[in-house]
Parts: sequence; C-alpha cells; structure tokens
Amino acid sequence: MISNDINKASEIIRGGGLVAFPTETVYGLGANALDCNAVAKIFEAKERPTFDPLIVHISDINDIALLSTQKSDFISILAKKFWPGPLTMVLEKSDIVPDLVTSGLNTVGVRMPDNAIALELISTSGCPIAAPSANKFGRISPTKAEHVQKQLPFLECILDGGSTKIGIESTVIRIHDDGFQILRNGFITEADLAEFVPKSNKTDVNEVELASPGLLKSHYSPEKPVYIKGNIPVEIDYSKAAYLSFYGEDIHKYKIVEYLSKTQNLTEAAANLFTALHKLEEADCEYIIADTVPLIGIGKAIMDRLSKASYRFLNSNLKSV
Ligand code: TXA
Ligand code: MG
Repeated sequence: MISNDINKASEIIRGGGLVAFPTETVYGLGANALDCNAVAKIFEAKERPTFDPLIVHISDINDIALLSTQKSDFISILAKKFWPGPLTMVLEKSDIVPDLVTSGLNTVGVRMPDNAIALELISTSGCPIAAPSANKFGRISPTKAEHVQKQLPFLECILDGGSTKIGIESTVIRIHDDGFQILRNGFITEADLAEFVPKSNKTDVNEVELASPGLLKSHYSPEKPVYIKGNIPVEIDYSKAAYLSFYGEDIHKYKIVEYLSKTQNLTEAAANLFTALHKLEEADCEYIIADTVPLIGIGKAIMDRLSKASYRFLNSNLKSV
C-alpha cells in the first residue's frame, strides 16, 4: 500500500518486515540489513533466482565503521565528497553483516542515499537498511511509488516520494589499496571520482561479482521487445513501434514517441529512462525502438541499461530468461 507514514514504516523494518522507499536514484525494497530472516524476504519478494549481494543503506557516515573493517583514506574522502549521493562503495565487510546480504562475499556494498524520506526511515528504524531496487528480478527499476505497487502489490508499505530525482541506479565501485574500480556505471562518473582518488589498476571483475544482476547482460527489461538503433531487425513494422527518442529523428514513422530528452540533455534522459520504459510497457505498441545516446558522462550508464533491456530480444535462445 502506498503511504506517507515513516513511523509505521520504521516499525515494520524493526519488526523484520519489508518497506519500499524512495531514494534519489530508484525506489528500494528495504529490510533490516542485520536481520537475516528479514533480508531473506527481499529475495523472496523479488523472485531473484540467485542470491546476489545487496547494497546496505546508512544515514550517517560513521556507520561505515559498523559495516566495514577496511582501512583506507579513499573511503572517507569519497564519502565526504559524494554522500549523501548515488555512489555505492564495496568494502571489506565486518562480522555483523549477514552472509545473505553479501552473497557470501567478504565485501559489502554501502551507500548513503540523498533522499530525506530514505534518510529518515533509516535513522528512525535504528538499523542499516539492505535494499535492492524494488522491482521483480530482471524487470524495469521503479522511479515512482506506482511502479513498485504494480510489480510488488502485496507490500504492506510503499513510502511515496514522488518521482526519483536521478532515475538511474548508483555508481558501484570497489575500493582497492591503489584506488577505485567501477563495477557498475551510474550518475557519478569515472572522471568525477578520479578528481579525488586514483583509478585502480585492477580491471578484472571476479566471478561472483559477475553473477550479480547489475553486471548481467540481460536486465532492466520490459515485457515487449526493445531494440536499439543500429540493431533493429529488418522485419520491424514501424507503425506498431514506440520510439524512445533522444534525437527526435523521423518521429512520424512511429506509432508513439516518448522523449528521453527533447534537448539532448543526458541528465534529463537518465531521469526519464525507466519512467519512459514503464510507460511504453503499458502503451499500445508492439516494440520499443531506442536511440543510442553519446557515451559521455552519465550517457554510459544510460547505454548500459538500454543494452541490458534489449539484450534478450537480440538473442532468441535467451527469450525465456
Ligand atoms: O541506486 C541504487 O544502487 C539502488 C538504490 C535502491 O539504492 N539499488 C540497487 O540495488 O540498484 P540492486 O540490488 O538492484 O543492485 C546492486 C548492485 C548489484 O547488482 C551488484 O552488482 C552490486 O550492487 N553489489 C552490491 N554488493 C556488492 C558486493 N559486495 N560486491 C560486488 N558488487 C556488489
Ligand atoms: Mg536492480
């Protein structure tokens, strides 16, 4: 049920239940990160086929010390610069963090979200909150309370914070001794980070990390085919297609046009991406044809999400994924 009652939501969290809540990126599906049974309910609700590491959300920078034993100046430099904000740092975990949260990894993803409702929920609950995006596994991430309601209608409490500001998930980085390594692109770019901390020489992503959904090739997917310009099957009937537009080219040949941005603004495009995909999933069209956007700044994160949304439709043997 969609609600504005943060006190009730924090009672649910303290009682081991689930609450969906807004962040500045996408809505999260939260549970007490230190309560294994509560965290298990997240996987059940999302129908995640495998256990993948969850991001733990905090409301106070000092809580890093509760969750992580890693000692590195890079951590506080980045936390002070980018938190609250869309940056997740993967750090060596402390014993207090249940293995279910980290999928058995010895690292934990931590972030402090830049959203007043999220921060109040965490502080009122009195515990860090583990939360993946509040969608069914592999589906489009929610940027409005209504998107959560549609995919997870059985939830007792979905805190309403309107449309999320950024609209695309946080940048996930691993902190190594020699600097940071990007595990998932997001709003904060490599160049933003490199102003404060060196880029690590490590380029490999280990197997378990690869198994996590942010790094899967197919993800964020609507129920109807998504094709990206340059990779459109020849037999497409454009009169049945929706155009997810960045450049506004040949708009008349499509049945529906939904703009990521009318002014080729990448930040605006990121904020509109999942909202537009949700809308087109419901709309009267058979396919979604998306523009490519420039791979500059947050454009990388947008193309990453679009490629994953379209991946299964380019590979017929993956149709049932
Ligand atoms: O913006 C966001 O990050 C949103 C909001 C709700 O905070 N959350 C989110 O969570 O996108 P989720 O579960 O959909 O994606 C979390 C990603 C995983 O795909 C995984 O790649 C990475 O974070 N991750 C988390 N913990 C990790 C760890 N210990 N090692 C490697 N990757 C990790
Ligand atoms: Mg997700």
